[in-house]
Amino acid sequence: MAEHFNIERLMDSSGRVDLTDINWADVPKYPLTPEAIRALRYFLLTENSTFFYVKALMSTDAVYEEPELAPFLCVWMYEEEFHGRAFRKFLEAYGEPPVQTYRRDMFLSRGAGEKIDEIGQNILGKIFPAHWPAVHMVWGAIQEFTTYMGYQALIDRIDHPILTTICQRIMKQELRHYAFYKEHAKRRLQDPTTQKVNAAAVKLGWTPVGDGMCPKEEVVHAVRFLFDGLDGAAIPRIEQKVRELPGLEWFDMFTKFAERYDIRRAPDSWFPKNMRKNVESSHKTGSASMVDAL
Ligand SMILES: [Fe+2]
Ligand SMILES: [Fe+2]
Repeated sequence: MAEHFNIERLMDSSGRVDLTDINWADVPKYPLTPEAIRALRYFLLTENSTFFYVKALMSTDAVYEEPELAPFLCVWMYEEEFHGRAFRKFLEAYGEPPVQTYRRDMFLSRGAGEKIDEIGQNILGKIFPAHWPAVHMVWGAIQEFTTYMGYQALIDRIDHPILTTICQRIMKQELRHYAFYKEHAKRRLQDPTTQKVNAAAVKLGWTPVGDGMCPKEEVVHAVRFLFDGLDGAAIPRIEQKVRELPGLEWFDMFTKFAERYDIRRAPDSWFPKNMRKNVESSHKTGSASMVDAL
């Protein structure tokens, strides 16, 4: 599908995720484990951190040199904001509302690495103005695909009918975001120097989506809850997708992250009964196969 990527089609289909028919009063009827609530809070913060990354992308020359980037960023920030709001609303409906200041808290408590990253990005963007936008495109492709897989995991592992509907609708938008980033990453990575700059940047700074903006223990929890860390099939699948990008055939950074924090299979008690069986059968029927077409 990537070769047929069309910005006009993306713009025409853009908009906030439609949740007008959701019966929020039914949300508490289906119990959630504390570990699931913790993972949902992580999604809330991660979705709402998009706003801060738009700032970095807007400081690159590509934002005015690449005609598709400005319209995409307008849509991206808008749609991601409503993904975050969906989680806020869901948690409120369940009786676990996030603190009012969560956005401010997240920004002020972001890790030192994130702050250094912001400064480093400005400097590197000036040193490699022609190559740096590719790094953003690659980052976007990896993080959007990871998020997509994360949503599939929420559906499989929490097994809450209303959450499933919300996730399925959000996933359609995540897939379009991924298609945009992948297409632009592929175009820019045709240049061998750009491939080298990109590979160096990824090796130096890549960590899973949400890391930096959320405390490390929350990242580790999410990777365990959603993907079973080193014991699950999701991390190799994400890495396999990243390796389709030119110059990233070596990508193993997610496995290395899971090794560094020794992230293993999540205990069965974190999930509803029979969840493991459902997940195994959904893998057999290939429920996430839409992404294989991209
Ligand atoms: Fe999102
Ligand atoms: Fe997205």
